[in-house]
Amino acid sequence: MLTLLSKLHFLINIIIRIYNLLPIPVYHNLERIKAYRRIFFLINFEAVKGDYLEFGVFEGTSLISAYYANKSTGKVDKLVMLNKPNKRRFIGFDSFEEGFKYFKEEDKHDNWIEGHLSSNLKLVKKRVSRVSRDDFILVKGFIENTLEDIKKNNDTIEGYKIEKVAVMLIDMDLKSPAEKALRFCHDKLQNGSIIIIDNYFNFNCDPNKGEFAAISNFIDYSKIKLIDFGNYGVTGKIFIVSKTT
Ligand SMILES: C[S@@+](CC[C@H](N)C(=O)[O-])C[C@H]1O[C@@H](n2cnc3c(N)ncnc32)[C@H](O)[C@@H]1O
Repeated sequence: MLTLLSKLHFLINIIIRIYNLLPIPVYHNLERIKAYRRIFFLINFEAVKGDYLEFGVFEGTSLISAYYANKSTGKVDKLVMLNKPNKRRFIGFDSFEEGFKYFKEEDKHDNWIEGHLSSNLKLVKKRVSRVSRDDFILVKGFIENTLEDIKKNNDTIEGYKIEKVAVMLIDMDLKSPAEKALRFCHDKLQNGSIIIIDNYFNFNCDPNKGEFAAISNFIDYSKIKLIDFGNYGVTGKIFIVSKTT
């Protein structure tokens, strides 16, 4: 019995070592893929209308995760899902070639520096178009500029008008762009819309910094209630919008 136990310990040690070889971004992304399934199942089941808006696309991994989660959970099976869910677009905002830029002093972080996490719009477009030709829209530029232009254009991008937001992901890591994204989506959120904050627990949860501060301020000024729908990965947090109409 003792030898069997010690053999098991040896096996368990190997499993622990292998699991710890998994790079943190991979671990975080896998957890988010899992979270997206329950997020999209819920909005499809509850028939929440609107698009998926992603602020911070990088190379497109989370955008594609959202698309497949929506597709797989939106199938009519005559058992759980009786009605076909609403059609949605998957709209991604990023500076792409520019990466990060500090618009405010309070956004500075040792691990997110200017120009960091830049990507190539052409390659990302190619990557998403292999998944679907018509369902993605990519908007290039710092959202500090692009969102104002879209507002002036009656919330329309490339001829498509964003009426409602079903799910939004904020993944630009810093406070000031997160605030802009939340302000842009404010009037498009409805009961059941989901807000995903990818870096909720960064900046040591300082009430004046990061996406944590942006969402706290949003709760104060919007008077929208956010219902906790759990966490994922290292720093991810999910909320469901609850609004009195
Ligand atoms: C962590 S990455 C996004 C990762 C992506 N969501 C994923 O998981 O596949 C952060 C992205 O935010 C973008 N970003 C940061 N600040 C921005 C801003 N002010 N306007 C537009 N994009 C910004 C960066 O270019 C970078 O691609």
